Amino acid sequence: MLPSWKEVFPDRLGHNVQLLKQGLPAQVRVIHVVKSDAYGHGLTTAVREATRHGAEWFAVAHLHEAVEVRAAAPDAHILLLGAARPLDVPHLAAHRIVCSLFSVEHAQALSDHAGREHTRLECHVKVDTGMGRLGLMAEGCGQWADPLIAAGRHLDVTGVYSHFAMVEPHRIDVAERQAGLFTEAAATLERIAGIRLMKHLGSTRALQLKPEWDFDAVRPGILLYGYGCSEVDARFRTLPWLEWKTRLLQIKRLPSDCPVGYYGTYRTRHAGWIGIIEVGYADGLHRALSSRGYVLVAGQRHPVIGRISMNWTAIDLGSKTDAAEGDEVVLVGTQKGQHLWADEVARWARTIPYEILTAARSPFITLA
Ligand SMILES: Cc1ncc(COP(=O)(O)O)c(C=O)c1O
Repeated sequence: MLPSWKEVFPDRLGHNVQLLKQGLPAQVRVIHVVKSDAYGHGLTTAVREATRHGAEWFAVAHLHEAVEVRAAAPDAHILLLGAARPLDVPHLAAHRIVCSLFSVEHAQALSDHAGREHTRLECHVKVDTGMGRLGLMAEGCGQWADPLIAAGRHLDVTGVYSHFAMVEPHRIDVAERQAGLFTEAAATLERIAGIRLMKHLGSTRALQLKPEWDFDAVRPGILLYGYGCSEVDARFRTLPWLEWKTRLLQIKRLPSDCPVGYYGTYRTRHAGWIGIIEVGYADGLHRALSSRGYVLVAGQRHPVIGRISMNWTAIDLGSKTDAAEGDEVVLVGTQKGQHLWADEVARWARTIPYEILTAARSPFITLA
């Protein structure tokens, strides 16, 4: 019996993949973002299921993830969003990975290694339009486009992309500026490359709120996992497919004014029952949920009390309880018609659902 576990429902991912495929214009491709173990859902499971439902493109952050995707999807296009290192050229070529180019020097180094290995690499140019992260600055495109294409004698540049820092309806000017810079930089690069490039910009938020920024492809991540659908005018409503669970290890009665957990930061207000669950911050349960979060027991919400410790956490079961040791406890998911999803948990922990999902480290159980 596992102390805590993640249950995944790949059929719901299949539903999400189909929903996007059918709902987007036919010419818009979907690059399924499966980095960080498919946002904690299990990369191989995610890639196999998405492929079964027609997914053709995947994106990852690291080479080892790209290799894992290749094993699960022999025919897919795989975009490496992160560093393609010149010394990795033999692996990048062998696994047919589409590399991202971040600078003229990076293109030159990759191209030189590809030449030495008598191979070619397919690449997309990553343009920084306001994220301030990886990529060539859009504003300087007039200066770098020529040398970049010239440097890549052994590279096939087939695409260009950028990433939004924010797509917020109340400050849409910020995203509009990014989209404008991207459009201009992509046009310059296309002119110099002399071919039509695959252009992609939007991830979940832009995809949901701004159909005019679909370009040739979209790169949804969190949307594939059932989140990022709460806006009233969102285009797609996907289903969450990861549930995270544990069990009641011990139930005991405490008197009033009894300290619970390290440093006694919580004291019981009345005599009542507490439950100890076998999950803690070492399993990825965010410590900020200490005396702030909730879990489900028998379909009811119960507060987390006291500080979450490395392996165990206390919950308040109330002054009367029918719960029994061994009963299932839901940290993220559904129980008896009630649900508790990662976006709500994230609000209690003052973080984002991405962190809740990717932090959960318990072993997987896959359910049909
Ligand atoms: C470059 C890039 N594209 C797409 C995504 C997917 O974003 P989201 O999960 O918000 O859809 C990410 C996520 O971090 C990213 O870094």
